[in-house]
Amino acid sequence: MKEKLTKLREEALGFIEKAETFDEIEKLRVNLLGKKGDLTVILKGMGKLSNEERPVIGKLGNEVREAITEKINEKKISIQEKMQEEKIKSETIDITMPGKSFEIGKKHIISKMIDEVTEIFMGMGFSIADGPEIETVENNFDSLNAPKDHPSRDMSDTFYITEDILLRTQTSPVQIRTMKEAVNNNDLPLKIIVPGRCFRSDSPDATHSPMFHQIEVLVVGKDITFTEFKGTMERFVQKLFGPDTKTKFRPHNFPFTEPSAEIDVTCFKCGGKGCPVCKGEGWIEILGAGMVHPNVLRNCGIDPNEYSGFAAGMGVERLGMLKYGIDDIRLMFENDIRFLDQF
Ligand code: DAH
Repeated sequence: MKEKLTKLREEALGFIEKAETFDEIEKLRVNLLGKKGDLTVILKGMGKLSNEERPVIGKLGNEVREAITEKINEKKISIQEKMQEEKIKSETIDITMPGKSFEIGKKHIISKMIDEVTEIFMGMGFSIADGPEIETVENNFDSLNAPKDHPSRDMSDTFYITEDILLRTQTSPVQIRTMKEAVNNNDLPLKIIVPGRCFRSDSPDATHSPMFHQIEVLVVGKDITFTEFKGTMERFVQKLFGPDTKTKFRPHNFPFTEPSAEIDVTCFKCGGKGCPVCKGEGWIEILGAGMVHPNVLRNCGIDPNEYSGFAAGMGVERLGMLKYGIDDIRLMFENDIRFLDQF
């Protein structure tokens, strides 16, 4: 038995040494030390031994078991280390490989125009106000002094949700919201701009889109006169189109302003000589504006004898189309990267 045990130890250690995976090691452990394993089978013969031999063989058996167990543990550690090493090797980064290139997006032309206009007004001390795209008829028309028969109220021009709720057709209702809030919070005077989406029931064509963007301007305070209005708008226009740009305030009619004006600027392309951009006119219309109508102030709880103000509204897409010579508004919403990438 002694020889059998010694031989088993020798062979077992050899096999374990050659093993390369955890699976192989586990198989060897079961075959050598398991219930039906070689060692167990040999030691089963101990019953036949003499009393003198039994403890000697027992001791040897334990030694063999320990030697095999130890070898198995050592081997496991070395397999583990080897696997780790191989993993690290396979994961090393080849810094000479070319990097993955991915395209970086950029701001949409509409966002860029809004940023540009916002920055100019913020430089003049304006802050940004916001309002919902789903509005009340009251804020969108009534409080803005729009007569009951104003054509813009027509079902065919406006997306009504109910009789009293609609998709705002302009950013002007935010004037009402902001003025009412300012009155509530005792927060007058105010100087705000409102960039936002508007909706009108127009079929898309080169110059119309049922969804478009406006930027509203509103100043309300004491002693705000036409001079402040003209000066602010002129400064804005010169910042946007260049310091030599001239403005023309052409009389117009809006329900919420009195007097009202459309503001034309000298063509930034030809400087006023006449070219295809200004259709030979030398002037380009860029926005609607005026002094806030006393009724509008009253509708918001502001005393027109104490306060006055001016307001303006401009179409963002129109500004972008003028600035970049784009001849079809639909291009802005088709999301063709080849188009968007140019700005
Ligand atoms: N809301 C007008 C429109 O959509 C634009 C406008 C004109 C806004 C004059 C104003 C303004 O605040 O004073 O056509």
